[in-house]
Amino acid sequence: MKWRTVLEALEARLAELARGGIQTLNVASDPELVQLLAGFPAGERAAPAAEAPADPGSPPAPPRAPPVPEIPQAEPAGLADRASPLDSGGSAATFQAKHPSELQTLESLHFHFRDCQRCALAGSRTKLVFGVGHDRPRLMFVGEGPGQEEDRQGLPFVGRAGALLTAGILALGLTREDVYIANMVKCRPPGNRNPAPEETAACFPILSRQMELLDPALIVTLGNVPLKALNPSARGITAERGRVFEYRQWPVLPTFHPAYLLRNANAIDSWWLDLKQAFRVAYGSGG
Ligand code: URA
Repeated sequence: MKWRTVLEALEARLAELARGGIQTLNVASDPELVQLLAGFPAGERAAPAAEAPADPGSPPAPPRAPPVPEIPQAEPAGLADRASPLDSGGSAATFQAKHPSELQTLESLHFHFRDCQRCALAGSRTKLVFGVGHDRPRLMFVGEGPGQEEDRQGLPFVGRAGALLTAGILALGLTREDVYIANMVKCRPPGNRNPAPEETAACFPILSRQMELLDPALIVTLGNVPLKALNPSARGITAERGRVFEYRQWPVLPTFHPAYLLRNANAIDSWWLDLKQAFRVAYGSGG
């Protein structure tokens, strides 16, 4: 099956669900979608790498339901009774310099920001979408911000764009649990607008600390918002896609946002080239 066929099949399935009155979709729990996403041919997948977790000779396993990241119920040891160090607007670097032993795990970071009020998006969110996936991933994907379905579930990329991102991850022979998926902003911008610069700035210390704790081999940015946040002098995504740059100690590969691909199927081939390049960089495969 070619990528375009996959995209068309995905769109047809999503349209069918919408006609049936289904407005929300958990990508990983829709049986037909799972079957569709699992049906990628080996020839369409990235070249295998020695350290890749999947067996490139067999079709990728159907996606497991993504683990819902529980917000830790108790303050991790050492944080109790302290004022929130980032609530005064300090950067992650400033915070770390002052509190080197704190927020040392994703759980404590998540707990710390469980009721974040650092920007106006807090007022309209249903759930804060912290991020999900492997805690030492080779690949980290960074999107823009949660949409309606993500806001409802508290998980990133579980709506229509998420179906396509999940398809791309599976086509690489990976699962959502092998990578980490996060967003620039953790709360849904109303009406799915792009996050405002002040919202991105307010949320950035969380993403920054996530990067430090995860320490991925490669960060893949999806769309213009994370590209411009990590590389302010970048031109638009169409010019920059596939061109690796450095952000602090991490290589970053920008590519199209999957929502863009749902509207512009002619960009899917470039996207797939970018994903295969990302796989090679992250897993050290020469293919
Ligand atoms: N778009 C994003 O940028 N992030 C999500 O989590 C979902 C859609």
